[in-house]
Amino acid sequence: MSGKVTIVGGAGRVGSNTAYALQLGQTCAEIVLVDVAAEAAQGEALDLTHGSAAVGPPSIKAGSYEDIPGSDVIVVTAGLRRRPDESRLQLIERNAALFRTVIGDLVAAAPGPDTILLVVTNPVDVLTYLAATELGWPPARTIGLGTVLDTLRFRSLLGQRLEVDPARIDGLILGEHGDSMAPVFSSLRYDGDPITSLPGYSDRLAQEAFAVARTAGAECLRLKGGAGYAVGLAVREVVAAILNDTGAVLPVSTLHASGDFQGVTFSLPTRVGRSGVQEVMPLALSEDEHRALAHSAEVLRETIGRLASEPTA
Ligand SMILES: NC(=O)c1ccc[n+]([C@@H]2O[C@H](COP(=O)([O-])OP(=O)(O)OC[C@H]3O[C@@H](n4cnc5c(N)ncnc54)[C@H](O)[C@@H]3O)[C@@H](O)[C@H]2O)c1
Repeated sequence: MSGKVTIVGGAGRVGSNTAYALQLGQTCAEIVLVDVAAEAAQGEALDLTHGSAAVGPPSIKAGSYEDIPGSDVIVVTAGLRRRPDESRLQLIERNAALFRTVIGDLVAAAPGPDTILLVVTNPVDVLTYLAATELGWPPARTIGLGTVLDTLRFRSLLGQRLEVDPARIDGLILGEHGDSMAPVFSSLRYDGDPITSLPGYSDRLAQEAFAVARTAGAECLRLKGGAGYAVGLAVREVVAAILNDTGAVLPVSTLHASGDFQGVTFSLPTRVGRSGVQEVMPLALSEDEHRALAHSAEVLRETIGRLASEPTA
């Protein structure tokens, strides 16, 4: 196991849960927690470090932007939480300015030519667009968590309803990490076979599971103030693909330079490895699925356009 992961926002719920997921997964050798709440970051690092006697490495410490050089992956979870009555896209006005500050501080800290940035803060697709266009790095090194979490939620809910192991279910949610996310029902597989062969499966059951997955973030917000554990595990999937150069295909959010979705940052099935984005995979979608994805692109195009004309809103 090797690799250094710096989490900016590491004292928050998502940041500390991400560190815990990386620790339990023994995903990297070193974790640095950076946060404006410096004492809270020290506390999280201390607490996590006490567990290292049970699980072994990584080493975990609280740090500052001075620790950024040498990071293989920088995970940004710094931000403001969604208010109960607020959509993820409405968060943009409060989070964009903060995020630009973080980007500026990251560039000033000179991370290195191979560092990959993984954006988690919401609205993740829009902030990934900002990072991809304003960091001055090759866009392949900027990745948003996108719909990785939504896809985990969808698979878990399907597994629960069908009473099978969700880890053996494959499937995808694409598009915006937000209200317009687009499920790809035709991608659903169980142990590699079409999920339609499982007893109890029906289109209606899949649609119901998707409807619950789509509002799951809001439900976590209502019940416990925000999601954390599953987000940490979603981040771990992406970080592991980067550090181990696996080329895993994940629904991460990236800036699309060509094709139907040119200029939009959202999730398509993407091969992820040590260089970041290796390849965006060709899509095999039904007409309805393509229409839903095109709608999601339109929603984000509008928001990104608004952001470009009001950069500090
Ligand atoms: N992409 C996803 O799938 C997903 C899922 C869940 C939550 N989120 C998002 O993750 C973000 C964090 O959520 P949370 O529940 O951890 O919130 P939180 O309030 O618990 O943590 C945010 C942390 O960011 C820190 N912070 C603020 N400004 C900073 C700065 N300039 N530099 C360094 N640290 C700074 C705060 O001190 C705090 O510790 C939110 O935007 C949330 O919407 C994304």
